[in-house]
Amino acid sequence: MALRITRPALINALKERGIDWTQATRQEMRSYVCAQCHVEYYFKGDDKILTFPWSKGYTAEAIEAHYDEYGFRDWTHQETGAPMLKVQHPEFEVWSTGIHARSGVSCADCHMPYVREGALKVSDHWIRSPLQNIAQACLPCHQQSEEEMKQRVLTIQKRTADLLRASESAQLDAIDAIVAAIKSGATDADLSKARALHRRATFYWDYVAAENSTGFHSPQESARVLALSINYARQAQIEALRVTKK
Ligand code: HEC
Ligand code: HEC
Ligand code: HEC
Repeated sequence: MALRITRPALINALKERGIDWTQATRQEMRSYVCAQCHVEYYFKGDDKILTFPWSKGYTAEAIEAHYDEYGFRDWTHQETGAPMLKVQHPEFEVWSTGIHARSGVSCADCHMPYVREGALKVSDHWIRSPLQNIAQACLPCHQQSEEEMKQRVLTIQKRTADLLRASESAQLDAIDAIVAAIKSGATDADLSKARALHRRATFYWDYVAAENSTGFHSPQESARVLALSINYARQAQIEALRVTKK
């Protein structure tokens, strides 16, 4: 019944980070098992090998640097021509940057809390939102009421959602400005900086948007990354205005 990792992509990614998972504690394994799937990934090279972009770390900056070095794009933006990235579901990476990971709280602590089955104490295998089960998911560690814990989650998620919307309007303005620059006759050379900023702004937004806790797994880090996204989108807009032909 020992926890184990079977997926090659995680084994390879941990090895690249100098981590020997066979030496991991049981508590670490209670997150690594989830990191087999709840992560960012891409298909590397002609053989399309499933790979996690973790060579430099788990932050948005580290993953972006990995992709830039590899020269990767998932798609080309039809309107701006920017080489875009698409983030999948980086729960493990975002959780890694937060206070719960720092305090040794695993994915399973919240998503598979201990429950009693007769005389036995087992981990709940109904893996779901902890908001469906706050008493067992949160209250073993937190002294507040269920309602208070729920409100803390919802407050974080509302703030994160507001920042996501702010980033989206900034990205739309950047796209419109780049399209106007293209129409005015700006060349690919003129546009390269604006396109690179568009790629960055959307990648930083997507690092939070594609993550499924809406900021809860790491509230301050999610807000930090979205602030950068908004800044890059506005920089893209300003750069596009600068290269628009009069
Ligand atoms: C083999 C891949 C895989 C592993 C390993 C895995 N998950 Fe998932 N998980 C998924 C997929 C795929 C979905 C989406 C399922 C769907 O939408 O029907 C999902 C959905 C979820 C959901 C949302 C469930 C809901 O009610 O909608 C939670 C929470 C979750 N996983 C947590 C975890 C945790 C915690 C672990 C580790 C203990 C884990 N998962 C391990 C693939 C995986
Ligand atoms: C401190 C508790 C806690 C820890 C630790 C934690 N989560 Fe979560 N997770 C939550 C909460 C709270 C939500 C938001 C649920 C909601 O919005 O309904 C969430 C949301 C999710 C979702 C989306 C669930 C849904 O219903 O859509 C997934 C998937 C998920 N977490 C996976 C993980 C994985 C994988 C890890 C470890 C890398 C992890 N979580 C660590 C508390 C936690
Ligand atoms: C296994 C213990 C454990 C579980 C389970 C747990 N937490 Fe925590 N939580 C902690 C610890 C430890 C801290 C950090 C406290 C500190 O350092 O001051 C923390 C901090 C927090 C914070 C403050 C975050 C911040 O950025 O300062 C919130 C909010 C929170 N938890 C909510 C939850 C919710 C909601 C759940 C259930 C879904 C949950 N926790 C489950 C141990 C846990």
